[in-house]
Amino acid sequence: MRSEVLNAAARRNIFFSPDALEVVLSNSDPLAFANTILTSLSESSMFIEKKDIIGFIAGDVAVEAERVPAAPRNKKHGDMIVAPGTDITGDSTCEGKINDFAAYFKNRFFILKRMIEKRRDFGTSVPISRAVTLGRETQIVGMIYEKKETKNGHTTLSVEDETGTCTVLLSKDSPCSGEMYVNDEVIGISGKTSARGDLFIADKIFRPDVPAGRTWVPSDSVSSVAFLSDIHIGSSTFLDKEWKKMTDWLKANSYDMDLDYLVLPGDVVDGIGIFPGQEEELLIADIYKQYEKLGEYLKDIPDHIKIAVQPGNHDAVRLAEPQPALNRIFTKSFDSNVIMAGNPVSFEIEGRTILSYHGKSIDDWIASVQRLNYDDPITVMKEMLVRRHLSPMYGGKTAMAPEKKDYLVIEKVPDIFVSGHVHGAGKMDYRGVKVINASAWQSQTEYQRAHNFNPNPAIMPVVHLGTGAVRMMDFIK
Ligand SMILES: [Fe+2]
Ligand SMILES: [Fe+2]
Repeated sequence: MRSEVLNAAARRNIFFSPDALEVVLSNSDPLAFANTILTSLSESSMFIEKKDIIGFIAGDVAVEAERVPAAPRNKKHGDMIVAPGTDITGDSTCEGKINDFAAYFKNRFFILKRMIEKRRDFGTSVPISRAVTLGRETQIVGMIYEKKETKNGHTTLSVEDETGTCTVLLSKDSPCSGEMYVNDEVIGISGKTSARGDLFIADKIFRPDVPAGRTWVPSDSVSSVAFLSDIHIGSSTFLDKEWKKMTDWLKANSYDMDLDYLVLPGDVVDGIGIFPGQEEELLIADIYKQYEKLGEYLKDIPDHIKIAVQPGNHDAVRLAEPQPALNRIFTKSFDSNVIMAGNPVSFEIEGRTILSYHGKSIDDWIASVQRLNYDDPITVMKEMLVRRHLSPMYGGKTAMAPEKKDYLVIEKVPDIFVSGHVHGAGKMDYRGVKVINASAWQSQTEYQRAHNFNPNPAIMPVVHLGTGAVRMMDFIK
């Protein structure tokens, strides 16, 4: 019955506080009671507390009287772990040699190829060197290294696997020609070699993607996780007042609503020497002092909240991705409820997988695909999920470290996928994955003003781990 009630609420993107849920479940017909409450309360009530439903049981004193006072629930401390194999910290082996790059791309190709071949509508592929000799319908998997438009309006893709290369023709009349292609992504192609043997004529493109029909399956978890990206401590544009408002709200509400986890997906400080003229925008010009200040701000967050800190492109770690966690020389003043993780990383929290990636590659996606833009980072993140890769394009603005394994491949479909970096705020449900861009705590910078970019700061996304409801808490007003 508990899960039926939670499901009914989840369908309306609403969730009950534990004590409200308890009252609902103690009713003689909990589901009917829950539906009455859910249809009666206004759409703005995302969290339903006990006080909100007392009116519905007015006169029904038995419900209240019979209830045994609940013992304080054990808060789940330490229940946020870094998923094994998803964090580069302490495991970096790369020296940046040519051979490292070859091994890196090989690893990426085989993992993504396996994902494509797992699709029921695709099956096994044949090596490119063999496919080009066959005169029948077949399928190949290749990594794109060039895309061109022909003078007749068709599109060609040069693709390669470990056996060879070929040119794939996407006819202008085929739906495949309107799809988005980026360099170094891995795709499956069904088609046939042309009579002259020089082209592979595609009729359908397959991507690793998130399985179609996947949904968020509600659980009985009552906790929530919140995200605070791009804090930029040290910058003169850091939003001190709004940050204080947010921490006051956490102090007043986080315990009762079981907001127990907080993830900071990078650019936690403004850093030094990140862009020319940055010193004019810094309040704290010493990198150690920036992290010390962050430590002070984090101390002000209630102790029951477990906090994870990741680096971004403004932080004091190598720029090349995957980035390792911040070194202890910067974070020694942090409290014990704060854990350090790399970028990207996956966390496991109460049975949910949270993929957190700062989002530097969003710059490359937008630079290479005309239809993507900074106003809509969520669509870029969706395209990452479709390709199951956070940063396919090599050689752009995102530096990459050729590790033995490609940490930027999205091996496991997450329940929540969060990024920051572009200082926007947005959410989307893509096949059950809660896709979130987690705002910033810095107002518009000179650089952003010069580029006509309007950030969307001081918003804290909160996701309920049981229902999947996403609430964007706005602290700017
Ligand atoms: Fe940032
Ligand atoms: Fe950034």
